[in-house]
Amino acid sequence: MTILITGSAGFIGSHLARALIWQGQDVIGIDNFNDYYPRNCKEFNVDLCRLAAAKSDVKTKDPELFSVYKKLKEYFSQNEENKASQNQGTFNFYELDITNQSQLEQVFQSNKITKIIHFAAMAGVPNSTKNPVLYSRVNVEGTTNLLELATKHNITKFLFASSSSVYGHREKENFTVTESDDVSKTRSVYGATKVAGEVLCHAFHKSKNLKCAIVRIFGPIYGPLQRPFGMLHQRAINYTHNNNALQIYGLNGLETAKDATYIDDEIQGFIKVLNSDFDFEIYNIGTQNPLTIKHWLDCVEQATNKKLNIEIIQADAADVTSSANISKAKEQLNYNPKTKMQEGIRRQVEIFKAMPQWYQEMDQV
Ligand SMILES: NC(=O)c1ccc[n+]([C@@H]2O[C@H](COP(=O)([O-])OP(=O)(O)OC[C@H]3O[C@@H](n4cnc5c(N)ncnc54)[C@H](O)[C@@H]3O)[C@@H](O)[C@H]2O)c1
Repeated sequence: MTILITGSAGFIGSHLARALIWQGQDVIGIDNFNDYYPRNCKEFNVDLCRLAAAKSDVKTKDPELFSVYKKLKEYFSQNEENKASQNQGTFNFYELDITNQSQLEQVFQSNKITKIIHFAAMAGVPNSTKNPVLYSRVNVEGTTNLLELATKHNITKFLFASSSSVYGHREKENFTVTESDDVSKTRSVYGATKVAGEVLCHAFHKSKNLKCAIVRIFGPIYGPLQRPFGMLHQRAINYTHNNNALQIYGLNGLETAKDATYIDDEIQGFIKVLNSDFDFEIYNIGTQNPLTIKHWLDCVEQATNKKLNIEIIQADAADVTSSANISKAKEQLNYNPKTKMQEGIRRQVEIFKAMPQWYQEMDQV
């Protein structure tokens, strides 16, 4: 059984790839290393996946990479939900673009892929307002390519990485969202492309019997090696390190509250969905515990032992807040996110400090 992970050089995709390899699964990764944030970061993520699949004698070649790898594996196994196997799986990686169907087809022809977890996307709300056509091409056309190949090659499970953005902005009275809620009121181009991806999954399920699960990720997902561009935790850590002022644009300034989810908890959710039986299901995978941006920044100050220089700027009109009702995932999958933000950010800072200088001083955050 081989699992294809698209976007496997990215933040969540590479964490999940390593987790599955540690659990003995064979993983194929694909990614086009787009320039949304520096390629170095993505190559580092892929190298970590290669380490997860490597024999022990290869592991000593790059001490910096290996020390980050060891810490990540330790954190992962500290979560009692994430059991590692005695024998690690394999990892093969292809650099390619999901909008190129003939290249994708070759990957399917060369490998016996049975399951797909689809993360590859243009992520991020503000950037989608500036580049709507690109977001639509990658997130809608790219997803359609994969769905078509999934049906052609008899894929048994297709997981689609969706987003809380599909719910649009929620006020106090309807702040907590459930899977059956209306998703036609999204505010951002990014959210709209995720709704389109979900609807396409549903159409392929109905017309071609493809078994699909939609995982609505409640970000920002934070933790070690968090996506660098536009994610507040990572930006705050980097800016504190480099003594830069941090601009905050949340709808309610520092009181803006979101269901930020720790990476290994999000990964736990994905693995539980992957291991479950489904025809077509939608799951909210978040924390159901919205915390204010003020709390996030307090955790960063505590972990770095430095004071942040904060400036509040005008809110982005496409920014949204809501909180996940995760009862369905808890009841049906036994999903149980446990990591406290204080500990998650402590780990994120610890890994930041173990990373090479180019990473710590990167200005595209
Ligand atoms: N991080 C979050 O908080 C969050 C929240 C909600 C949803 N999501 C979704 O989860 C997924 C992963 O997010 P992430 O934070 O890891 O982002 P990321 O940008 O780190 O990872 C996405 C990866 O997809 C790759 N990619 C983009 N376009 C591609 C293309 N045309 N062909 C091949 N590869 C391509 C990128 O190079 C990148 O490595 C995305 O679908 C995102 O929309 C993330």
